[in-house]
Amino acid sequence: MAEVLVLDTKEAGAALVADHIASLVRDNPRATLGVATGSTPLPVYQALGERRAAGVDFSQASAFALDEYVGLPDGHVESYRAVIDREVTQRLGMDPERVHVPDGSQVGIESAGERYEQAMIAHGGVDIQLLGIGSTGHLGFNEPGSSFASLTRVKTLTEQTRRDNARFFASLDEVPMHCVTQGLGTILRARHLVLLAFGEGKAAAVAAAVEGPVSASMPGSAIQLHPKVTVVLDPAAASALRHRDYYRWAQDNKPDWQGI
Ligand code: GLP
Repeated sequence: MAEVLVLDTKEAGAALVADHIASLVRDNPRATLGVATGSTPLPVYQALGERRAAGVDFSQASAFALDEYVGLPDGHVESYRAVIDREVTQRLGMDPERVHVPDGSQVGIESAGERYEQAMIAHGGVDIQLLGIGSTGHLGFNEPGSSFASLTRVKTLTEQTRRDNARFFASLDEVPMHCVTQGLGTILRARHLVLLAFGEGKAAAVAAAVEGPVSASMPGSAIQLHPKVTVVLDPAAASALRHRDYYRWAQDNKPDWQGI
């Protein structure tokens, strides 16, 4: 079962995750981080920036991003390559050569998924994967119906996801129709999954992912198949969980040595 941690604020949740990642990188400077885009992980990146300022060295660490839009012009500020570069690579002082994002350029798009899978496998996989969850329940850009065995590939975004992400673009028309995303099977290979969700808007998707039936119709429910999952929530995002009293009880009575 996933461990569900409910923190008073998203900042507190982000600090918990950042402390864990910082100690991972201190123990293994060459650790590999799985990084996500969207607004949810931003406080984690901010907290990691503070850990860097306090002396944690990320220059030997590597990162793999979950996904990328297809067909945005090179260097577009909302391409996930650009977002990861701003929010993660530069902020943490990572080596850009060690930070990988799927290639969303139109030329060669047919092989983009396979190339990314090969790069991940050759590298030795991801130690800790940060995940947000979309309002459709998507992980990365694995929309409902995605196979739990799926690998990195081109997908068509749902209209709902395009509308959700239109806030980053001048208009809905500018939101790409396609993406390259790690598959659910790719994500499940990471050694530790950390799913973050904050705010009431995520409560239904979180409850379905954590407690609902395991179903391809709810891509987030794939986390139930992974042996090591930490779900970090604020009270609003946890509000629809049936067993939230038990999660709180387990959290309050957790052995100190366990960590996340
Ligand atoms: C995008 C990303 C997902 C992310 C989701 C939720 O669609 N591809 O990885 O989890 O948005 O975004 P937010 O965290 O902004 O709610």
